[in-house]
Amino acid sequence: MKFRFAAHSQCKILEPDPESRKPNPMPATILDGTRIAQDIRNEIAAEVKTMAAAGVRPGLAVVLVGHNPASEIYVRGKVKASEEVGIYSEKLTPPESSTTAELLAVIEDLNRRDDIDGILVQLPLPAHVDAKKILMAVDPVKDVDGFHPVNVGFLSTQRPGLVPCTPAGVLEILKRSNIPIVGREAVVVGRSDIVGKPAAMLLLNANATVTVCHSKTHDLPVVCRRADILVAAIGRAGMITRDFVKPGATVIDVGMNTVTNAAEFQRFFSGNPAGSAKREENFRKKGSTLMGDVHPEVADVAGALTPVPGGVGPLTIAMLMFNTVKAAKMRRGTRVPELSRA
Ligand code: GUN
Repeated sequence: MKFRFAAHSQCKILEPDPESRKPNPMPATILDGTRIAQDIRNEIAAEVKTMAAAGVRPGLAVVLVGHNPASEIYVRGKVKASEEVGIYSEKLTPPESSTTAELLAVIEDLNRRDDIDGILVQLPLPAHVDAKKILMAVDPVKDVDGFHPVNVGFLSTQRPGLVPCTPAGVLEILKRSNIPIVGREAVVVGRSDIVGKPAAMLLLNANATVTVCHSKTHDLPVVCRRADILVAAIGRAGMITRDFVKPGATVIDVGMNTVTNAAEFQRFFSGNPAGSAKREENFRKKGSTLMGDVHPEVADVAGALTPVPGGVGPLTIAMLMFNTVKAAKMRRGTRVPELSRA
């Protein structure tokens, strides 16, 4: 998610909506992704127990090529979550120098194994590897990332399949927080294959009226201000300011950006509750903080907001667990119920 938006000075920002400048009588409700993810993980753990009684143990293989530090942290989280819900997991760590052909052989082997229901190839892959070829080689019924074109097609034609984890998590947050979707205006900022496009498709399938914005969108704040549900998946710290948000809108922040510059930290967090003493202390100790694509000031305008950290992030892993159980059931011809009861 590294594409760049035009600098604000180039981007035509119309007059800020006077409505969004009015003091908010009530600050945004914070949508607690950690709690929602834990609920889902508890449901999955119960499901895995039932499957175990029937002699089935879902299995997940995570392929981590090389030593990307961020990827190592993500993969550790995925393996730990698997253990916690009772899913068998296996981490494969081919070297950074692996060729496309060698990685294809790894995938082919996992496709053949009966004890493996889900295959996840952690991205990014080294630059010399043909990532599209690797993702295409994953058997679609084991494609727990939902990245294979077959699953992309199933999603866009509303057929049962495996749905990318982060966008699926966004929908779970909305549904479990009783945020109305049907007939509402949803604006997704970002058109990546991993988040923006599938999030837009899920919202459309849930009967929202969906607009997808990107780096070439004209008058971005104006388009965003139409949104009842605004999904920010750009990869640029604090880009969504209050001028992008209709008062009372639900704002879902998918961004995960590391801020290391002290002046930037001050600009985002000084005088704002999100810049709590704890965050400041951590920034001083670590020299960095994790923040989303949404500026903390949006809490003064939005009706509901996902925090970073503790918003969408925990849902990504919970939905991976869900997809692994779903894949295990689909491979065995068992009906897969909806996760949300909303
Ligand atoms: N790297 C960053 N996000 C993801 C994801 O959702 N899946 C995989 N496989 N790699 C990622």
